[in-house]
Amino acid sequence: MEIFAKLLLMRNLNTNTRHMTDSPKQRIDTLRKELNEHNHRYYVLSQPVISDYDFDMMMRELQELEEKHPEFADPNSPSQRVGSDLNIEFQQVTHRFPMLSLSNAYSTEELMDFDNRIKKLVDEPFSYACELKFDGTSISLNYQQGKLVKAVTRGDGEKGDDVTTNVRTIRSIPLQLHGNQYPEEFEIRGEIVMPFEVFNELNNTRIENGEEPFANPRNSASGTLKMQNSSIVAQRKLDAYLFAILGTGLPTDGHYENLQAAKSWGFKISEHVKKCDSMEEVIEFINHWDEARKDLPVATDGIVIKVNSTSMQNELGNTAKSPRWAIAYKFAAERAVTTLKSITYQVGRTGAITPVANLDPVQLAGTTVKRASLHNADIINNLDLHVDDKVYVEKGGEIIPKIVGVDTDSRDMLAHPFVFISKCPECGSKLVRQEGEAAHYCPNSNNCPPQLKGKIEHFISRKAMDIDGLGEETIDLFFGKDMIRNVADLYTLDRDKIKALDRFQEKSTERIISSLEQSKQVPFERVLYALGIRFVGETVAKKLTKKLISIDKIATATLEQLLEIDEIGDKIAQSVIEYFADETNVELVERLKAAGLQFQLDESVLEGMTNKLEGLSIVISGSFEKHSRDELKKMIEDNGGKNVSSISKKTSYLLAGNKIGPSKLQKAEKLSIPIISEDDFLQLLAEKA
Ligand code: IVH
Repeated sequence: MEIFAKLLLMRNLNTNTRHMTDSPKQRIDTLRKELNEHNHRYYVLSQPVISDYDFDMMMRELQELEEKHPEFADPNSPSQRVGSDLNIEFQQVTHRFPMLSLSNAYSTEELMDFDNRIKKLVDEPFSYACELKFDGTSISLNYQQGKLVKAVTRGDGEKGDDVTTNVRTIRSIPLQLHGNQYPEEFEIRGEIVMPFEVFNELNNTRIENGEEPFANPRNSASGTLKMQNSSIVAQRKLDAYLFAILGTGLPTDGHYENLQAAKSWGFKISEHVKKCDSMEEVIEFINHWDEARKDLPVATDGIVIKVNSTSMQNELGNTAKSPRWAIAYKFAAERAVTTLKSITYQVGRTGAITPVANLDPVQLAGTTVKRASLHNADIINNLDLHVDDKVYVEKGGEIIPKIVGVDTDSRDMLAHPFVFISKCPECGSKLVRQEGEAAHYCPNSNNCPPQLKGKIEHFISRKAMDIDGLGEETIDLFFGKDMIRNVADLYTLDRDKIKALDRFQEKSTERIISSLEQSKQVPFERVLYALGIRFVGETVAKKLTKKLISIDKIATATLEQLLEIDEIGDKIAQSVIEYFADETNVELVERLKAAGLQFQLDESVLEGMTNKLEGLSIVISGSFEKHSRDELKKMIEDNGGKNVSSISKKTSYLLAGNKIGPSKLQKAEKLSIPIISEDDFLQLLAEKA
C-alpha cells in the first residue's frame, strides 16, 4: 500500500483525540465501526494499520462503554467476538435454499465428461470459475441490511444447527458489511476452517494436557463450531472462506464477479479463484494447485469447477444431491502401507453383508487406521486378498479408508487367499446373492438378530420416527431382555418392565414413553421411510405417499402402477411388492396402524394437489416474476406433471421466463414444442379441470 494512503487511513481511523465531545452512543458507534475496520484489515486483508496493543485499548474502551450503557447493546458489536460463557442449545433452522453437496471427479476424463454434459445442455459460449476446495465445515450465513443475522451449519442439507453465537467469534466473518452496495438480504456460503498452524498448536496443548488430539483440521473445525461455550470457540481462531452467494438482487450474473463484489463488502474470498475459458486452462489450474496447495495455510482437498454464469447455473439446475453446473476435482488421496490381518463380516439391517478388513494400525493423513471397508465379495476377489498381505490403504473424502492395492511381491508363497463366507456370521443362514447385485444377503430377515435390531434402530432414527430417549444401546438392552423383536413391540413396551431395568429411572422411562406417544403424529412419508423397505429412502417414500396417498394403496399397488410413478424403477417397485408379499410385514403394519401411527397422507398436504398436469413433462427455463423456479417445479409436481431439465421430443411445454438462453428457445422451436410464459402456466393450472 502507498505509504501516503496508509498514513491517511491511520489518521482517519485514529479518533482518540476527537472523542471527548462525543456522546456515549456516538463514541460506541465510532469504536464499533473502527474495530470492525481493523478486524477486516487484520483478519481478511492481512494488512493491519494499528498495533495489537492499540486494538486492545480500543476494544477495552468499547467494552467499558457498553457495560455502562446496556441500552446500546448490539449482538453484532465487535466486542461480542470474545464470546460468552453461556451454554447454548443449538436450534435447528431450515435452509432457505437446500445445502447440496458436489459430485466428484477423480480424473481428467471425468472432468471432460462433465464439460461435455454441460455443453449438451447449453450451446452458448461460457466460462468456468475454478476455486480451491477448502477442507473444513460448511456454513451458511444470512445477512440482512448488511448485518449478520444467522449462521447455520449444513446439517442434513435441509436443516442445520443455528451456530450464530459461535460464528460471531470468527474474526474474518464480518458482522457489519462495508459500504452500501450489498443486496438487502442474501445468503453467503463458505467453509469454516482451522489453519494448520492453529491446529498444530491446539493439538500440542491437548497432548500436553493429556487430552485426545484432533484427527485433522476438518474435524477440529467442525468440533469447535459445535462447542457449547463460545468463548472457547473464540480462542480457537477459526477462519472462513466464502464461495457462494444466493439471493435476489446480486450485483451481476457472473459468479466470479459477485465474489469480487463480496470481497469489497468485507468477506474473505480466496485470492485463488480463476476464470477459465477452456478445459485446458482448468486442467492447468488443477495441476498447479495439486502441488502448490502444500504451501497454503489451510487444508484443501480439491478444486471446484463452476459454470460462471448464474443464470446458466439456474438453467442447468440440480439433481437431488448436487448441482449440475459444478463439480469437485478431488486431489489424489494420501496412501499408506500396512498388513491385512483378517476380514470380519457385518450384517446390516437389510441383511446386506459388509466385509471389513482388520489392519495393523498405521498413520494416514493424521489419523490411525485400523480398519478398512471392503464393500463386497467382488472387491476382495479383484484385489485377490491373502492373509497377511501388505496392502495400500487410501483415505479419500470418506471417513472410512479403503484398500486400493496389494504388494504381491512381498506375499508369502504359502499364504491363504481369503474366501468370502457362505453362511451368515450371526444366524448361520445360507447367504444369497441376487443376479446383478454386488452384495451378499442373509435372507433370514425375520429372525437374524442384527437385522431385527438394525430395523428398529433405523425406525427410531432422527429422519424416520425420531424417537428421543431410545438409542442403539437401549435397543440392544431391550432386545437382549426379549422385550422387543420388532418395531411394533415398541408401542406395547411396559412402563414397569423398563423401570425395573437397572439403568432406567422414572424420568428416562417417561421420556421414552412420551416420545413414542409423540411419534404417532409423525407424517406418513416418514413412517413409510421408517419401515425400512429396501431402496425406499426419504425421496422415494415422499413420491410414493404423494401419489398413492395411503398404505393400503401402496401395499396393493401392482408393478405397473408403481412403475408409473416418477423416478420409481424396477428395482424399487419389486422391492415394495416383495415387502408387502411377506405376511410378517403385513402383520407388522397392521399392529402399527392399531397403535395409531399415520398411514395416510395428511389432508393439508393433499390440499392444492390435483392431476391436472398428468402426463405432461415441462421444462422450466429463465427467471420468473411471480414464483421462484422451485415453486414452479413444486406446482408442476403437485398437479401430477413432471419437471424435466432438458428439451426433447417428449417435452410437452417449455415454461420460459426472463433471460432465457437462445439455445433453449431455438431447440423448442425446432421441435415445435409450445413455449408458454409464467402467466400462461398459471392460467393453465387455473383452467384445466
Ligand atoms: S460450492 C452446491 N466451492 O464442499 C454446492 N464448495 O461437497 C456449492 N467446499 O458443502 C458448494 N470449498 O462446504 C463450493 N470453493 C468451494 C468449496 C466448497 C469447499 C465444500 C462445501 C460443500 C462441499 C461440497
